[in-house]
Amino acid sequence: MFQIDLSGKNALVYGVANHRSIAWSIAKILSDAGARIGLVYQNDRLREPVEQLSSELNDALLFECDVTDDDQLVALHKDISSQMGSLSIVVHSIAFADRNDLGGDFSNTGRDGFRMALEVSAFSLLPVTKYASELMTDGGSIIAMTFLASERVFPGYNVMGTAKAALENSVRQLSAEYGPRNIRINAISAGPVDTLSSRVISGYRDMKKFHEERSPLGRSITLEDVAGTALYLATDLSSGVTGAVLPVDAGYSIMGI
Ligand SMILES: NC(=O)c1ccc[n+]([C@@H]2O[C@H](COP(=O)([O-])OP(=O)(O)OC[C@H]3O[C@@H](n4cnc5c(N)ncnc54)[C@H](O)[C@@H]3O)[C@@H](O)[C@H]2O)c1
Repeated sequence: MFQIDLSGKNALVYGVANHRSIAWSIAKILSDAGARIGLVYQNDRLREPVEQLSSELNDALLFECDVTDDDQLVALHKDISSQMGSLSIVVHSIAFADRNDLGGDFSNTGRDGFRMALEVSAFSLLPVTKYASELMTDGGSIIAMTFLASERVFPGYNVMGTAKAALENSVRQLSAEYGPRNIRINAISAGPVDTLSSRVISGYRDMKKFHEERSPLGRSITLEDVAGTALYLATDLSSGVTGAVLPVDAGYSIMGI
């Protein structure tokens, strides 16, 4: 029988801001399965809360890195190389858009806001993958977080929908590039979950309400739903899966009305 056992594996998890973060639920389940976790937080403001959370994990390491800064990304991977050695799993659970660009008319999105949203939420997967791959000496699994607004219109989600479309396309292109090295790259398309980021989207309440009302399972998504799928993608249970976007949305995306 297949046993889920990640002991001896190192996982780098980007995007923990607080206990509601999707990244945190994934870090916990990977740690419970035996992986050693490196938690990457964005900036000094998040150091203390993330440090407090990390005490719930087995022997976790903390790293600071803003993914818009190449020097920080290079320094991060030097630190990981010396403190963790190799990497088997990377979780990219990062997104950002200016609050003003998450509501109103999409056509009003400014040039800088568009650029920033796509840089943080989509482009960053490229250097994150490239640098991590150098430490993935025995294959690996990279997991990104996306949302159905990549292909359908959710009023208020605006430029973040564009960013998710770019992210999903990047998942496919990176999967093709890194497949020969047995590095798999997939995305989880989660239904609405209450987090720091989701709450600033105007229209978020409606998105959640419609998911609950119209999804086949008739409920919203939990952090545990997402973490379970991330665990599957992180292990050899998903050894034949790469370049995929897996919906964890209570079935919402299959419905016509
Ligand atoms: N919450 C939802 O409903 C939902 C649904 C589908 C997908 N997602 C995606 O899940 C991911 C995680 O979001 P969340 O909902 O857990 O919210 P969150 O606010 O807890 O996490 C977002 C993280 O991104 C980090 N981040 C932003 N800019 C960064 C930068 N420049 N450098 C490094 N880190 C940076 C933040 O520090 C934060 O930790 C995002 O990609 C989001 O789009 C969320």
